[in-house]
Amino acid sequence: MNRRQFIRIFGLSTGAIALTTGITGCGDLKSSFSSSDESDNYGWNGPTADIKDIRLQVLAYAILSPNPHNKQPWAIKLTGPLKFELYVDQERLLPATDPYFRQIHIGQGTFLETASIAASGLGHDAEITLFPQGIYSNTQVLNKPVAKVSLTPNESVKTNPLFANLLSRHSNKREYSDQPLTQNQVSELIRFNTDNNQNSLTLVDSPAAKKQLEQVLTKAMQIEVGNKGRDEETIKMFRFNQAEVEQYRDGFGTAQAGLSGLKRLLVENFILSRESTEKDPTEFGQQAVSMTQKVVESTGTFAWITSASNSRIDQINVGREYCRINLKTNSMGLAQHPLSQILQEYEDMLPMQAAFKDFFNIKTSDTVQMLFRLGTAEITQHSPRRTVTDIIQA
Ligand SMILES: Cc1cc2nc3c(=O)[nH]c(=O)nc-3n(C[C@H](O)[C@H](O)[C@H](O)COP(=O)(O)O)c2cc1C
Repeated sequence: MNRRQFIRIFGLSTGAIALTTGITGCGDLKSSFSSSDESDNYGWNGPTADIKDIRLQVLAYAILSPNPHNKQPWAIKLTGPLKFELYVDQERLLPATDPYFRQIHIGQGTFLETASIAASGLGHDAEITLFPQGIYSNTQVLNKPVAKVSLTPNESVKTNPLFANLLSRHSNKREYSDQPLTQNQVSELIRFNTDNNQNSLTLVDSPAAKKQLEQVLTKAMQIEVGNKGRDEETIKMFRFNQAEVEQYRDGFGTAQAGLSGLKRLLVENFILSRESTEKDPTEFGQQAVSMTQKVVESTGTFAWITSASNSRIDQINVGREYCRINLKTNSMGLAQHPLSQILQEYEDMLPMQAAFKDFFNIKTSDTVQMLFRLGTAEITQHSPRRTVTDIIQA
């Protein structure tokens, strides 16, 4: 890792103040800077081997987890030399599109799973205790830890094979090749899910299923964009240009949908603008609908994870499972992309969601927690990440 990447990941660019106020017991970090290459990849290169503090190494991987709107809704308290607690960052919720904070809790699970896999690759066991100060209901978020994590060095720990995919996994939002997964790929994924996960994974690729999903997922996006609060929430997290990416280091933009080079520059400079979109989001919404239609039409296989109950623990477990599946598909050279609109719980979406469940014979009492498309596509640029010090609370 080069010096600039290191500085950006660990939030030291404004000097060592962040170090002393944000982290305790990591005084040797500053001396770990290396090389002078100026390129930056928003922390996606993982931690440098020079970093001594295992908690920070693990967190530098965990921050790369998939999470809704790339909100990065995580707050960390360092509670001991080998211990930290994870909280939901209550400044980073999505109340309009995720009114019960279900997806935010799935995003806690993805973080814990990545932390656990990273620990194994770094020679440690990670003991994760969920809600050590008690759980809260699935309509609330309280200021209680979602998990405490204890790391223990273990020379004989078996590295989780998915460790190899932590830095390359990403959500690929571009159009796919329209080919369904091969029978071998389907079997491999189903076997992986049976061996590793509790919740059921459904894969569909029939023409009838595809036709239905093309309709309902496009319609769901139409419903989603027809509301001021929801539009504002998405526009707030959309990064209209590189300057915004660098300023906020969260959210998502055209790069994740596959735009690059001159095309991206042209779109960002002459077509998209925060000012005009905030004034009138109609065009932005229409683009979202037409892009959804295009990406769905380009997809041959769709998948979803369903749980029989829907407590905070279920949501966190689904997050862990979703993360594992995303890492597994990454290892198989597949692209993966969640489409969550139809699953969301606000009033306007419920009839559409019921119709979707009915068509696919999903029990009304089950919760479809994650729906995503799978296929082959060129990789896209990773979405940005804030620094590890940004998520650590004093
Ligand atoms: C619970 C959850 C819901 C998501 N829903 C959507 C979605 O509806 N549409 C989408 O394009 N991406 C969705 N994503 C993917 C995120 O946008 C993505 O994980 C985030 O931007 C970080 O990017 P990365 O996965 O490439 O690291 C979702 C991810 C999670 C964990």
